[in-house]
Amino acid sequence: MNLRVFRTEEDAAHAAAAAVAAQLLRKPASILGLPTGRTSLAIYDELARLHELGGADFSETHTFNLDEFVGLPSNDARSYCAFMQTHLFSRINLPGDHIHFLNGGARDHAAECERFERDIAALGGLDLLLLGIGANAHIGFNEPARTLRARSHKTRLAIATRRANASLFGGRLDRVPREALTMGVGTMLDARAIVLIATGREKARAVGSMFGGRITTERPASVLQLHSNVEVILDLSAAEKLPQSGFDAQP
Ligand code: GLP
Repeated sequence: MNLRVFRTEEDAAHAAAAAVAAQLLRKPASILGLPTGRTSLAIYDELARLHELGGADFSETHTFNLDEFVGLPSNDARSYCAFMQTHLFSRINLPGDHIHFLNGGARDHAAECERFERDIAALGGLDLLLLGIGANAHIGFNEPARTLRARSHKTRLAIATRRANASLFGGRLDRVPREALTMGVGTMLDARAIVLIATGREKARAVGSMFGGRITTERPASVLQLHSNVEVILDLSAAEKLPQSGFDAQP
């Protein structure tokens, strides 16, 4: 694991955006895996800015988002699909038919997950997977559990995860769906490169589970230690529980 620690959340987000922009320069027709969530906002702001400056061309790129709430069709304002439209897709030149999502409104969830997997495979697999991490070390919506699933599937959300997402539902926990569709950890590990970003003290314990050599389904992000090309980008607060604490932060 390649670890980079930055002084501020903003610097960390800029580094993650720069990693995506560099990938697009190397391979304009890259297949990207993308997260949602608070942490991604500053990354998407920076990507939109880079795009405006001519530094990030998405015209040949395809994107696959990690997850979606069950019961929310893509046109629902509370869906992750709507989140992505607002915060990234409406601000860049990504063609509409290059946007790939698990459809939370699908009737047959298993068939929808299989279609999603087929679409990733048909485009040659993910070149770069950008990941956030939950405070309980979930990745996508792969929650801590006795077992993890390799491929995309329907999952039950942890109460902590539903709480963390309540702001999308007017702060009402009872309105947050109990289930979601998510990319599986095997599909994530098939990506040619992974960049994970975590900022803030509340992520520090989860970040610790990616280091130290112990892999457990109770800390899903720990499986990333099996991948040979992972970059972890942190701010100082998210890094505070790492044994290396005290290292110099990058400017
Ligand atoms: C969310 C999403 C993840 C995201 C993570 C962190 O629930 N399902 O894809 O990476 O949890 O979110 P945040 O950045 O808001 O802390």
